[in-house]
This record gives sequence, structure tokens and C-alpha cells, in this order.
Amino acid sequence: PVPTMPVSFEVNGRRQELTLDTRTTLLDALREHLHLTGSKKGCDHGQCGACTVMVNGVRINSCLSLAVQHQGDKITTIEGLGTPDKLHPMQAAFVKHDGYQCGYCTPGQICSAVAVLDEIKRGIPSHVQADVSARPQVTNMEMRERMSGNICRCGAYSNIAEAMADVAGVEEARA
Ligand code: FES
Ligand code: FES
Repeated sequence: PVPTMPVSFEVNGRRQELTLDTRTTLLDALREHLHLTGSKKGCDHGQCGACTVMVNGVRINSCLSLAVQHQGDKITTIEGLGTPDKLHPMQAAFVKHDGYQCGYCTPGQICSAVAVLDEIKRGIPSHVQADVSARPQVTNMEMRERMSGNICRCGAYSNIAEAMADVAGVEEARA
């Protein structure tokens, strides 16, 4: 028999109770069981970032995480960030700066972008930072490095960087 387990977590402010095959990823639980199809399955191997969601405020690749590991967690997907008539500031900035083309990577890019600015604000060092005791600065380099796990096949990177710079209030230097 297929091993199943009950799990209860909050998604975009709503409590969800599911009984899942223990092998179900968080991404599949969101898409297949809760019909929240904003989070995308690009690679299903942790390589593209299209499935990025926030768990208790921290971004993760939901394809690499089992849903049953998230008992009691607060999960935010792109559907929970804003609505078409009330966009999150990062969503509005992506629209303003044309931060997408086909849009497939966009939900992951936006969830990541929101979490990146929060990470920098909270002083969380990136793995490439030489001096981990130094607080990270909001710079274009820093934002681009931290967004490097979100791949865009359409190559909208410079527009994504502009959108993030706009929200962060820094000048975006075109390479
Ligand atoms: Fe999760 Fe690509 S689908 S990283
Ligand atoms: Fe098409 Fe990024 S907008 S993959």
C-alpha cells in the first residue's frame, strides 16, 4: 500500500488539512492537491527556481521538500502575495519594468525577489560573502547573486534586476 500521512499547514493564510502520499513534494501538494498552480514545475530537481515559495518567511524550492515535512508551517505562494486588483509592490514593479516574457519563471522570481530583499534587510549573509559577520548591503551585485538560483529561459534578467532595484530603492546600473 502507498504510505500516507496527514499534514496540516497554512497556505496564504488558510489552514489546509491533507492526507498525502509521504513522497508528495510540497510543489505537488500545492499544485495537484490545492490547485494553486502559480508555483511552477520547471525542472523538479532544484535547479531552476520556478517552484520557489516562502515557508515561514524563508524561500525554498518546493520541488525539493516533502509536503509532510511542513506540519504547522506558514506557506506563501504567488497567489498569497497579491491579487490582480491589489498587486504586491514587487508584482507591480515586474509589470512596470517588463520583468518577464513567457512568465513561466515569474512566480518563482517574484517570491524569490521578495524574500531576497527581506534576507538582505535582516542581515542574512549569502553563501559567497567573504566576511559573514558583515551586514549585506542592498546593491545590484548582491541582489543578482542572491537571485542566481532563479533561471529565466527568456533572459529577462536585466528587467528583473530593474524591478528589484526599484522596490529596494537603489539605482540600477545597466551592465
Ligand atoms: Fe523546483 Fe526547478 S522546479 S527548482
Ligand atoms: Fe520566460 Fe522567464 S519569462 S522563462
